[in-house]
Amino acid sequence: MRTIGLIGAGRIGGQLARLAVAHGYDVVISNSRGPETLSALVAELGPRARAATAFEAAEAADIAVVTVPLKNCRKVPVAPLAGKIVIDTNNYYPERDGHIAELDNESTTTSELLQAHLPTSKVVKAFNHIYAAELTTHGQPAGSKNRRALVIAGDDQTAKDTVTHLLDEFGFDTVDAGPLKEGWRIQRDTPGYGPRRTAEELRKDLAAATRYADQ
Ligand SMILES: NC(=O)c1ccc[n+]([C@@H]2O[C@H](COP(=O)([O-])OP(=O)(O)OC[C@H]3O[C@@H](n4cnc5c(N)ncnc54)[C@H](OP(=O)(O)O)[C@@H]3O)[C@@H](O)[C@H]2O)c1
Repeated sequence: MRTIGLIGAGRIGGQLARLAVAHGYDVVISNSRGPETLSALVAELGPRARAATAFEAAEAADIAVVTVPLKNCRKVPVAPLAGKIVIDTNNYYPERDGHIAELDNESTTTSELLQAHLPTSKVVKAFNHIYAAELTTHGQPAGSKNRRALVIAGDDQTAKDTVTHLLDEFGFDTVDAGPLKEGWRIQRDTPGYGPRRTAEELRKDLAAATRYADQ
């Protein structure tokens, strides 16, 4: 589990690549425009990083991260991610993504949409409620007082255990919101979305979250 393949290398993807390299992982980064457009980031990241197509990044990944605008999630390659842990950072912004009926009527969640697109992958929602810049500045060693916590959600416990371990390495406690269908509790406009929270605070935020229809 030493290679992280990133589908998307923007604000969140770039920051997760920096964190991964800083913690001894190899990274393969990709975007929509092609590997040649990522040379500056690869140079910054150093010898543990290379750029590739999204398909190649997915193929190389022990753990993959999908961190693209949600409207492009259905372009994520399916076959090379079969059976793999796929971390989903994505959020729904209709002004960016266009309207998606199943999300507007809250019959599903963003991560369940990605899971439906990647039926045999083990999708774990993570890193969706922290500002990109804070990924490299808010991490603290395990056991630090008031350590920041991040929410995960997923349907596969082993995959969630792996992601919990990764978050711990990256400097964060984890709060498990449950299966993917509970991911709405940390969508935009819920109390835990954005601010720095400890695990205890975040658990209260998840419990206090309300559906858009009830806001
Ligand atoms: N920014 C934040 O602080 C933040 C925090 C938490 C969660 N999020 C969520 O995380 C996701 C990514 O956000 P971001 O801010 O990192 O976005 P961003 O800065 O706009 O970066 C998006 C990245 O995805 C790439 N991409 C787009 N379509 C692709 C495709 N079909 N295949 C491969 N790569 C593709 C883009 O490549 P090109 O540039 O080549 O098109 C770019 O590298 C979003 O869903 C966002 O809501 C963001």
